Amino acid sequence: MNYGVLGTGSVAQTIASKLIELGHHVMMGSRTAQNEKAVKWVSENGERAECGTFADTVAFGERVFNCVQGIHAIEVLQPLVEQLKDKILIDQSNPYIYQDGHISLKAEYADTTSLGEEIQKMLPDTKVVKTLNYIGSVMMTNPNELSEPVTGFYCGNDTIAKDAIREILHDFGWTDTFDMGDISMSRYTEMLGAFWVPVFGQLNTMHWGFRLVR
Ligand SMILES: NC(=O)c1ccc[n+]([C@@H]2O[C@H](COP(=O)([O-])OP(=O)(O)OC[C@H]3O[C@@H](n4cnc5c(N)ncnc54)[C@H](OP(=O)(O)O)[C@@H]3O)[C@@H](O)[C@H]2O)c1
Repeated sequence: MNYGVLGTGSVAQTIASKLIELGHHVMMGSRTAQNEKAVKWVSENGERAECGTFADTVAFGERVFNCVQGIHAIEVLQPLVEQLKDKILIDQSNPYIYQDGHISLKAEYADTTSLGEEIQKMLPDTKVVKTLNYIGSVMMTNPNELSEPVTGFYCGNDTIAKDAIREILHDFGWTDTFDMGDISMSRYTEMLGAFWVPVFGQLNTMHWGFRLVR
C-alpha cells in the first residue's frame, strides 16, 4: 500500500522506516520538497522510499500519518482538506507548549476539545484515528522489546478505519490494543502523552510504556 508520512522528525522517521520494512511504498512529507532529513531518509530506505512536500505526500498516500509538530498541525492540514477526502489520517501529534519546565496543552486544544477533535472537525470527510501519541518514538514500532506487553490505545469515529489501524498496530508489534471510543477520547490520550514527558524526564530513557492491566 502507499503511505504518506507527514513530518521529518523522529516519529515520522520511525513510522516511515517500519512501513518500508513491512513492504509498503512510503513518501515522507515536509514544508519543502527537498528537506535534508527526508532526502537522507530516502537515500537510506531503497526504491520504495520517496519524499516531497506535504501536498505531494497526501496525494501519494492511500493512508496518511500525521507526525508534524502538534501546534502547527491545523495549518499544515488545512490546505489539504480536499486531498484528504475519504482517506484515513492517523494522527500522532500533540499540541504541547513547553514553558518553565512544564508541559501544557495549547489553550485552543484543551478543556472542551483536543487537537484530534479539531483535526476531525476540519476534515469531515476524512477518517481520523488518533494513536501512538503517548509513547516515545523509539517504542512505537518496537513494543515487543519490553519484557511485558504495553497497550496500544487508539480512538476515532469510524469503525472500519479503526479496524485498519488496529491491524497496522499489530504489524508494528502491538499485541495488546485498546479501543478508547470516538475521536473525543483524544482529550485523554493527549493528556496521557503530556504525562509521559515528566516520567521520561525521570527515567531518562524512552524504553518503557503504559500497560492496561485488566
Ligand atoms: N518525539 C516523540 O517521541 C513523540 C512521541 C509521541 C508523540 N509525538 C508527537 O509527534 C509529533 C512529531 O514529533 P517529532 O518529535 O517527531 O517531531 P517535531 O519536531 O515535533 O515535528 C517535526 C515536524 O513538524 C514540522 N513543523 C515544525 N514547525 C512547523 C511549522 N511552523 N509549520 C509546519 N510544520 C512545522 C516539521 O516540518 P519540516 O519537515 O518542514 O521541518 C517537521 O516535519 C509531535 O506532534 C509530537 O508531539 C512525539
